[in-house]
Amino acid sequence: MTTPSTLQSTQHSTLTALTDEEQQAGLTLEQLRQLVGLVEYDASADPFPVVAQDAVCFVVGNATQAAAYYQLVWGMELEAYRGPETGHRAEKSFVLRSGSGRFVLTGGVAPDSAVLDHHRRHGDGVVDLAIEVVEVDRCVEHARATGATVLVEPHDESDEHGTVRLAAIATYGETRHTLVDRSRYAGPYLPGYVARRSQVRAERVFEAVDHCVGNVELGRMDEWVRFYNEVLGFTNMAEFVGDDIATDYSALMSKVVASGNHRVKFPLNEPAIAQKRSQIDEYLEFYDGAGCQHVALATTDILRSVDLLSERGVEFLSTPDSYYDDPELRARIGEVRVPIEELKSRGILVDRDEDGYLLQIFTQPVGDRPTVFYELIERHGSLGFGKGNFKALFEAIEREQERRGNF
Ligand SMILES: [Fe+2]
Repeated sequence: MTTPSTLQSTQHSTLTALTDEEQQAGLTLEQLRQLVGLVEYDASADPFPVVAQDAVCFVVGNATQAAAYYQLVWGMELEAYRGPETGHRAEKSFVLRSGSGRFVLTGGVAPDSAVLDHHRRHGDGVVDLAIEVVEVDRCVEHARATGATVLVEPHDESDEHGTVRLAAIATYGETRHTLVDRSRYAGPYLPGYVARRSQVRAERVFEAVDHCVGNVELGRMDEWVRFYNEVLGFTNMAEFVGDDIATDYSALMSKVVASGNHRVKFPLNEPAIAQKRSQIDEYLEFYDGAGCQHVALATTDILRSVDLLSERGVEFLSTPDSYYDDPELRARIGEVRVPIEELKSRGILVDRDEDGYLLQIFTQPVGDRPTVFYELIERHGSLGFGKGNFKALFEAIEREQERRGNF
């Protein structure tokens, strides 16, 4: 459904043409360069050409209610469904869309469903960062040759809407990357799913998925960076070590890998030794292992997004007034599109680098465990991740850890 058919015949494409999802969302290439930092690149030498992030797939404790939450609060639209009524007796899955971003929420129905075991151990979380690729077989062949664990061999799945080619490889923790070629498929999501429309309509708050962050165990970040370099052909975008991301009490290290066109960006964090437990240690304890920490959602108007989400009950990390009153920060960020007071009243953070600036804000964890949360990000040229805000952000998280008794 996504890959333009011309991409099938030429491996010299830059893989930066609009995907079907982006076209349907009314996005333009110029907007995507702005929104998610899309770049041109030559895919001919890429051993693992990636089109885009296909879906962020969650296991949740109650998919029926989570589907309502994401529609009513996050303004996502229900597009497809699979469950007992469609012949899938063990689980229920709801497919939701916002702009070009797609979430899949799955909950266990049958008492012996493996999804329930996963949920018992990890709680609500991301199980699959599905990636749309041009040639599934070639990617799996390369993945196997470079040492990846192939969880699902390449195979076709078909229904009246066409055929998809699917496979899956393992990544950190119990997380996987399903690889999907949907160029010969026109159905609502995947074979086995039926179209299902939202009965409710809440204004949209984000346009695309910008990046998905993984938290991995102490000492294992570089191993996973190498995995993304060697297996998926991702390149390194940025790294943050040492004083960049340490407060007086806790520390972590972070490196960012990205697909050639930068549509898919995966920062990877590991805890660093410090006086107190970092947010990464807390995550690893409560998720019971490595996993996806946050999903960053790109918006064209972060003020409106924050206002809508706040009205709908989403809680954000608070930022002290001193952040905005700091003359050093004011000098560093220069002119942004709105008065600082507008950012201050909402707790939105600003960062600037040589390419431009970005506005960002982080929610509290959205489940019962202090694990998964969201970031909203509005980019204006900056391809960064808010390095200048790490310290303020981590101090805000430490205040919350303290309240939870995990610091
Ligand atoms: Fe982020």
